Amino acid sequence: MTGIDGNGLESEAIRLKEAKISEFFLRDSERASRFTFQAAGLILDLSKNMVDDSVMGKLIALAKCRNMSQRIEALLSGERVNSTERRAAAHTALRLDQPAEYAALARTIQDRISTYVACIHSGAVRGFSGKPFTRVINIGIGGSDLGPKMVCSALDHCEHKLETRFVSNVDGSDIASALADSDPESTLFVLASKTFTTQETLRNAQTARLWLQAAADGADIASHFVAVTAVPERAEAFGVAADQIFPMWDWVGGRYSLWSAIGISIALAFGGEVFAALRNGAAEMDRHFAQAPLSENLPVLMGLLGCWYRNYLKAQTQAIIPYAHNLRLLPAYLQQLEMESNGKSVTRDGEAVPYTTAPVIWGESGTNGQHSFHQLLHQGTDLIPVDFILPLKNPVAPDGHQPLLVANCLAQSRALMMGKSLEQARIEFLKDGCSASEAQSLAPARAMPGNRPSTLLMMEALTPETLGALIALYEHKVYVQSVIWDINAFDQWGVELGKQLCGDVLQAMSGLAEIKFDGSTDNAIARFRSMHPK
Ligand code: F6P
Repeated sequence: MTGIDGNGLESEAIRLKEAKISEFFLRDSERASRFTFQAAGLILDLSKNMVDDSVMGKLIALAKCRNMSQRIEALLSGERVNSTERRAAAHTALRLDQPAEYAALARTIQDRISTYVACIHSGAVRGFSGKPFTRVINIGIGGSDLGPKMVCSALDHCEHKLETRFVSNVDGSDIASALADSDPESTLFVLASKTFTTQETLRNAQTARLWLQAAADGADIASHFVAVTAVPERAEAFGVAADQIFPMWDWVGGRYSLWSAIGISIALAFGGEVFAALRNGAAEMDRHFAQAPLSENLPVLMGLLGCWYRNYLKAQTQAIIPYAHNLRLLPAYLQQLEMESNGKSVTRDGEAVPYTTAPVIWGESGTNGQHSFHQLLHQGTDLIPVDFILPLKNPVAPDGHQPLLVANCLAQSRALMMGKSLEQARIEFLKDGCSASEAQSLAPARAMPGNRPSTLLMMEALTPETLGALIALYEHKVYVQSVIWDINAFDQWGVELGKQLCGDVLQAMSGLAEIKFDGSTDNAIARFRSMHPK
């Protein structure tokens, strides 16, 4: 069973099996406006989805049944919604004034960040040789990388104060290429790790330190390292100066942490005001999430729609396709946000969930995707709902580019819905010079079923504010789905097993311990050791 029983949505799914999205528009000339919702500078057009008023009504009823309003209040008021780790998930306090005790802590650190960043930009703080910093390399992984990296890429069209690089992978090629064209005298490192125990980050940090030490020839390199962590003593033990350690807290989850000091690379790249504007945009979405009725609430509607496709129409994946080159890292960011949050199979009470939870999230920027995987969207065998994300203006686009980009996005969304009939395909083959019988037999390959759903999420332009709202929208959508599925969106125990095992495997690889695993792992270890003789 994949659906959630007892709310009539299973029979709605059967009823809509034969329905055509395009016919919904023919029957209701107001559909586009009735299914379009706005908040915080975002325009959410849900009209090309496989839903009608009856389905939407039942989805809202499902949300009420799950006490959605109370659960939203629980999140925003700092209740311990992260049940397995027995703590709040209060990332919204990093951009709102509540809950007061968390928000007050957040403000102090934001002020410290602004002061520090201003010193870097003005040249008051410099590198070991007296040169001002011109490049910042953020070393972190997962939530300590994906959020700031995505934001820096998304705001690439804004004025840069410092150039940013991001190193996450323990594969040495990552840091090697970041260091290759960097100048040690003017490179600042942000060591971003909530736990400050993540092996990849610590290994990369050590490599960065060795690289600096080699260039500094005994000079003091302390000004080159900033750390962000919830365990400051570990960063101090690593050697980061206490006044260059910016704390975060256990009530901020890694994948929700870009609003905390983890976002310092954003402030270093563009200035403290841009970082503040990003938070303001998110705060506007937070207020909308808290106050709007469920039936007009953007994160609630997107979350419910996702459950509809996942649990009732059996979609296994969800595509995210931003028509904005600068948003090309959004799919990767949302993969962690959605799949690490809701890739769960037990309820908050520890019972096995009798329905499916998070879909696979994937995607790529348009129009690039059109020339790779869109074929499958149009003619493959699976139902894949798509989120098209579309900034209508791009201040840096040379003449002629933006209309072409927007036209492509709208054309894709319409083509998915309309498809192409067999008859139309047959006529096209005839026009290409095929005989009647050839056209008849070739037509099915050229025909497209259509009726493939998509959401169009527009904004006037990609600004710090609209980007903040967009990220908060998806954060809250994920929470809404966790409420429907009755799972904890804020832990990630599944990730821990691999981390623990890696330590044992590393020991076996170094020959320090004779550990036996399974035939396959043991063989690979033996192969590695034969290639790395002591
Ligand atoms: O990959 C698992 C994870 O725990 C993420 O949730 C987190 O964002 C990432 O590791 C990095 O952790 P840290 O910030 O503690 O280095």
